[in-house]
Amino acid sequence: MKLWGGRFRRGPTDKFVSFESSLSFDFRLAPFDIAVNRAWAKMLAKIEIISDSELKKILAGLDDVENDFEKGRIGRDDKFEDIHTLIEDRLFTYAGVAARKLPAGRSRNELISTDVRLYLRDRIDYIIGQIRGFQRRLVARATENSKVVFPAFTHLQPAVPVTLGHFILNYFWKFERDKRFLKFAKDEVNVMPLGAGAAGGTTLPIDREFLMRELLFSKVFENSVDATSSRDFILVFLEACVNMGIHLSGICEDVVIFSTPHFGYIRIPDEYSTGSSLMPQKKNPDFFELVRGKTGKIMGNLIALMAALKGLPSGYNRDLQEDKVSLFDAIDEITEILEIFPSVFSSLEFDEARISKSIEDGTICAQAVAEYLVQKGVPFREAHGIVGRIIADCEAAGTKLRDLKIDALKMYSNRFAADVFPLLDPAGVIKQLAVSGSPAPLRFEQQLRMAYEQSEG
Ligand code: ARG
Repeated sequence: MKLWGGRFRRGPTDKFVSFESSLSFDFRLAPFDIAVNRAWAKMLAKIEIISDSELKKILAGLDDVENDFEKGRIGRDDKFEDIHTLIEDRLFTYAGVAARKLPAGRSRNELISTDVRLYLRDRIDYIIGQIRGFQRRLVARATENSKVVFPAFTHLQPAVPVTLGHFILNYFWKFERDKRFLKFAKDEVNVMPLGAGAAGGTTLPIDREFLMRELLFSKVFENSVDATSSRDFILVFLEACVNMGIHLSGICEDVVIFSTPHFGYIRIPDEYSTGSSLMPQKKNPDFFELVRGKTGKIMGNLIALMAALKGLPSGYNRDLQEDKVSLFDAIDEITEILEIFPSVFSSLEFDEARISKSIEDGTICAQAVAEYLVQKGVPFREAHGIVGRIIADCEAAGTKLRDLKIDALKMYSNRFAADVFPLLDPAGVIKQLAVSGSPAPLRFEQQLRMAYEQSEG
């Protein structure tokens, strides 16, 4: 069945019909297309374009069509141009001529945008729920590891001591922003295009307020040309997906590095590791590499949509059909990743002995020692130089900063006194950290409480 053709002398070739069909990917929109059809039928009855008995037939027919989809009795037959055509065809078999009245005043251009919006609204809620679940795991792991001293890195060189709990919460806040970003995307999604027709509305007195309430939209589009062609709502959602992907991929990169035998901070349990077909000793972090790789594909989806949109003339263009390929792939990837990621993360084992051994020489306390001198009145640049020289001399002599006695320290500055010793120990430095947002014990407690509340909220 075709929805057009009156002005054509010949039909399209079979190859072209299958080439232009979007059914292979828009099939998943069926329940949403049916929901829109229900609302549209009720509205047409309200404005007396169809009679009450026609409405009854259409609604009963739509129930039957829905049932067919649920029971798997409808296939992805690419002789249909798209999901709308397929549903209209099926409805005709159940509701007869009443079904022919249903598309009055409505274009597929507004319909496809409406279907996708309903679908995406549902998926955004689901993804936000998944993120919340992951955040709870992060809070739990951060709590368990709130006392474990851990090196923070810059340039992947050991920088300053933090706690493992604090390090883990660094991930938490990224996902908190992603949730905000997704909520913003949801607001953009929740605008109704119906009533816009193909580009300029309709001469029928369509009741947009009624449709909006039926479909739980929060706003209607102000302009019919914009309504049918804008894909900003998909763009902002894909941007949020890319952001999430970057965050997940970053965690993966940390795990890949920290689980090498050279670092040995993290053990990935057997359940989530893979072996090598050739090298018997290998235990590989493939899960994390796959998430990193899939993130590239999610970014590709955003770029594909951006490229499709950038040169389009105003109004609907068929290029827009391809938006769903990018959108659905990103949704599938991100939901699949988030389905398993929390469990994998919870299963990671941290080797506290290896972590603590890697920072035991105390070099990581250098900034705190320089700041000690500042508190004793030494200008910071001078203090920086003094501590730099101590570190270089320790390195040359094969001694540890942590083992230096007071006499040795006094050779560099007479401001050193016994109260410097707690600062030669990474755990001692953490106790003296003075700013909010740092891993100082009380500050961390506050951060943990905030994180807990937000993940529950
Ligand atoms: N399948 C199309 C899409 O996904 C919607 C149909 C609009 N087609 C048209 N020729 N105006 O965008």
